[in-house]
Amino acid sequence: MSSRKRIVLLGAGLIGREHAALLDRHPEAALIAIADPSDAAAVVAEAFGARHHADYRRMLDEERPDGAIIALPNALHAQAAIACTERGIPCLLEKPIADTLEAAARIVEASERSGVPVLVGHQRRYSPDIAKARQMVAEGALGRLVAVNGMWIADKPDAYFEMAWRRQAGGGPLLINLIHDIDCLRFICGDVEEVMAFASNAVRGFEVEDTASVSLRFKSGALGTLLMSDTAVSPYNWDTAAGQALYFPHQPENAYFLSGTKAALAIPSMDIWRHEPEGGHWQEPLVRRHVTLDGSRAYDNQLAHFLDVIAGRAQPLVSARDAMTTLETIFAIIGSCRERRLMKV
Ligand SMILES: NC(=O)c1ccc[n+]([C@@H]2O[C@H](COP(=O)([O-])OP(=O)(O)OC[C@H]3O[C@@H](n4cnc5c(N)ncnc54)[C@H](O)[C@@H]3O)[C@@H](O)[C@H]2O)c1
Repeated sequence: MSSRKRIVLLGAGLIGREHAALLDRHPEAALIAIADPSDAAAVVAEAFGARHHADYRRMLDEERPDGAIIALPNALHAQAAIACTERGIPCLLEKPIADTLEAAARIVEASERSGVPVLVGHQRRYSPDIAKARQMVAEGALGRLVAVNGMWIADKPDAYFEMAWRRQAGGGPLLINLIHDIDCLRFICGDVEEVMAFASNAVRGFEVEDTASVSLRFKSGALGTLLMSDTAVSPYNWDTAAGQALYFPHQPENAYFLSGTKAALAIPSMDIWRHEPEGGHWQEPLVRRHVTLDGSRAYDNQLAHFLDVIAGRAQPLVSARDAMTTLETIFAIIGSCRERRLMKV
């Protein structure tokens, strides 16, 4: 027990409880305390044998943990991450890094000035399909990347929207869900330079969007399209398609399609299609091969990486600055929807 890293949790809601379960299972981590003023959080703390606090600053001061996991509503991310850096406590901060670029910049500044790492929870980067796709693109397995297509379409239940912040600006599916796809595609294909997008709230009628379509121009010159909805039935989203998420059924399908001058790759099925031998064209058959993966789990890998960051063995795979670029890309998309024009990132 003594060699375990002592971790605290800020926020024991939907994802916070998953972090608690992951910590509970990890042999090198111990969940020592939870800060969350809700009655439900007291029950969660008791179930995991952790102390319960109402105030996270007091918890950080009293517990002096080795690391903190921040799973609070988006608008509280900056103040909580900065409270950690001020106390020299490395944190794993749930995505999005913040609800505004100004708040994200304050986190970047606090982390870089203090040298205290802030790791942002874009967990898909630790998934073996995403890591392998990035490697394949970098090594030129697809040739020159030309066209990228992605989908995140799922049907959320009405109860999900009982939390008011999920119906208001800053809490919609572009910031909650599509931000994962943007981060993933940045990780695999490189940065996005320009975007054009449409959004609609026609089905739910909330202040935030329920559906969006996005066109992307990557810095590499590749073009991309993304379709997103949280109110339509579909297996075309990475969470259920990859079977990596913590609380979704596994529905094997694809969420991303990458096409280059030499080959096409579907993710997460990891089928690669190409001419064999090289040099064929559209009137000749393609050969489909399957790329095998190591079977590891994204959230487990993320936690293992966070423990390495705490121990000083690794730099954050998703630094605050990197996550701010993902947020800038999402805000360019939101801006394009609102202003109905092309936006530069
Ligand atoms: N990485 C992922 O896959 C993933 C999945 C879901 C959510 N998230 C992110 O995690 C964050 C939390 O999302 P959620 O769906 O768990 O939200 P949630 O509303 O279910 O949980 C938030 C919790 O924070 C608590 N809280 C509110 N104010 C607090 C305060 N001042 N101090 C301490 N606790 C406080 C609430 O009581 C609640 O229990 C969001 O930023 C969201 O974008 C990430």
